[in-house]
Amino acid sequence: MEKPYYITTPIYYVNDVPHIGHAYTSLACDVMARFKRLDGYDVMFLTGTDEHGQKVEKSAAAAGIDPQAFTDKVSQNFRELVKALNVSNSDFIRTTEQRHKEACQVLWNELLKRGEIYLGKYAGWYAVRDEAYYGEDELTTTPTGKKIAPSGAECEWVEEPSYFFKLSAWGDRLLKFYDEHPDFILPTSRRNEVISFVKSGMRDLSVSRTALTWGVAVPNEPKHVMYVWLDALTNYLTGVGYPDTNAESYKKYWPADLHMVGKDILRFHAVYWPAFLMAADLPVPKRVFAHGWWTNEGQKISKSVGNVIDPYELLKTYGLDQTRYFLMREVPFGNDGDFSRTTMMRRINSELANDLGNLAQRSLSMIGKNCGAKVPNCGAFTDADNALLGKAQALLGQVRGELDVQAFHKALDHLWLVIGDANRYVDEQAPWALKKTDTARMETVLYVLAETIRYLAILIQPFMPNAMNKMLDQLAVPADERDFTHLTKEYALKPGTPLPAPEGIFPRYVEPESLAT
Ligand code: MSP
Repeated sequence: MEKPYYITTPIYYVNDVPHIGHAYTSLACDVMARFKRLDGYDVMFLTGTDEHGQKVEKSAAAAGIDPQAFTDKVSQNFRELVKALNVSNSDFIRTTEQRHKEACQVLWNELLKRGEIYLGKYAGWYAVRDEAYYGEDELTTTPTGKKIAPSGAECEWVEEPSYFFKLSAWGDRLLKFYDEHPDFILPTSRRNEVISFVKSGMRDLSVSRTALTWGVAVPNEPKHVMYVWLDALTNYLTGVGYPDTNAESYKKYWPADLHMVGKDILRFHAVYWPAFLMAADLPVPKRVFAHGWWTNEGQKISKSVGNVIDPYELLKTYGLDQTRYFLMREVPFGNDGDFSRTTMMRRINSELANDLGNLAQRSLSMIGKNCGAKVPNCGAFTDADNALLGKAQALLGQVRGELDVQAFHKALDHLWLVIGDANRYVDEQAPWALKKTDTARMETVLYVLAETIRYLAILIQPFMPNAMNKMLDQLAVPADERDFTHLTKEYALKPGTPLPAPEGIFPRYVEPESLAT
């Protein structure tokens, strides 16, 4: 039986057009999901949209349409982005769906029944942009008297009746949980931040609001809607069938293996969420990974600066797989990173067009011309052949080890080291010279190259699925022989198998003159 693997993206606020931050989290999850599928797991991959709360209510009002019509429209943009990025999600959840409202209300009743929620009054600061409460001590005051949260969001004073979750009682149990599950929060630097936040002492958390109506109704309390983060986090349960804890999908996939989030929303996922779950006596997810933020050519990305990076523009300018590759390769996953067009162009040309593209192109065109467009015959292997094949065979273990801790950039490093070795092997073995002196040896060299490319293409599929499918087509690898079980067979390519005419897969990127200054 296949082992289950459940991975989630954050659900995206529908107040905005999709930008590079949304694309980044979704792509990282997609690489993980594709890798796990090829590695024999039964993968559930959930993404979707976060549609309630004050921020969305305000955006709908500003657009002059009712919130449901507004969210229907904007949610669709996120569905389209997922498609455009070739993201292989299993489901797309919207928090305005009935199944989700039910899940929230059942969880609420569970917490209430256990005495974890009580009615009180909230008087304090709230940042609509973050949909978060802040303590006075966390804020700075501008010369004009505005209160600003550490995230830069402006806060407003709120006083209203509210239900509270007894978060203050969960500090010690959370600390014990982090201690017993050292990999629950990655990267480690972020884990330390969370631990010191919890150690510094936590106040009870306001979990209902009366100042707005656009939310999931609190059971038996017509004036209250749920705090949008309690509603939003619950989507991870809804997606696998909660409140039906006997559902096949719930039993199979819960608790989630990985919640992928940006660093700005780690506290909600690594503190509030496990506390809610423990309080409802539900199992806690295995990991929350917080990735960093992108800047644009060194500048913080913001709508007011007007430097928001449009993912569609990237796809159009550089290509889908090129964009996927760059975002996963450029920044050590977990760190902040800078988006620079010069670097993007350099990586496309040197790492994709030259290193990988040329390796495939020159090997396959030599095979096409000199081996009758068939998988070459293969004689006895020399030490050099065994060395290269050995490195290719070691890759699965290395890449798996890196992806186990979401080190996408390091996985790519391993792959590109072997691409470098393979290119050196071509230069050293000089099959074009062997053509005149020893065609049997030339065929063996080209066979070793074809096998190495097969290994590489299979392993690079999670990052660049379309391009690698084309590469595997060119090696005539059958569609059902592209998963990782086919990496243990040393010589899967059968000499004599006819091959299609090779075609370049990664064109060089030439900057339009209008952009080159
Ligand atoms: N709705 C909440 C999540 C609820 S999950 C139960 C939310 N939505 S969001 O649309 O604002 O953000 C979604 C993701 O985009 C977050 O993981 C955030 O970190 C990420 N990014 C937003 N801007 C970003 C960059 N400039 N760079 C990288 N990722 C960033 O938060």
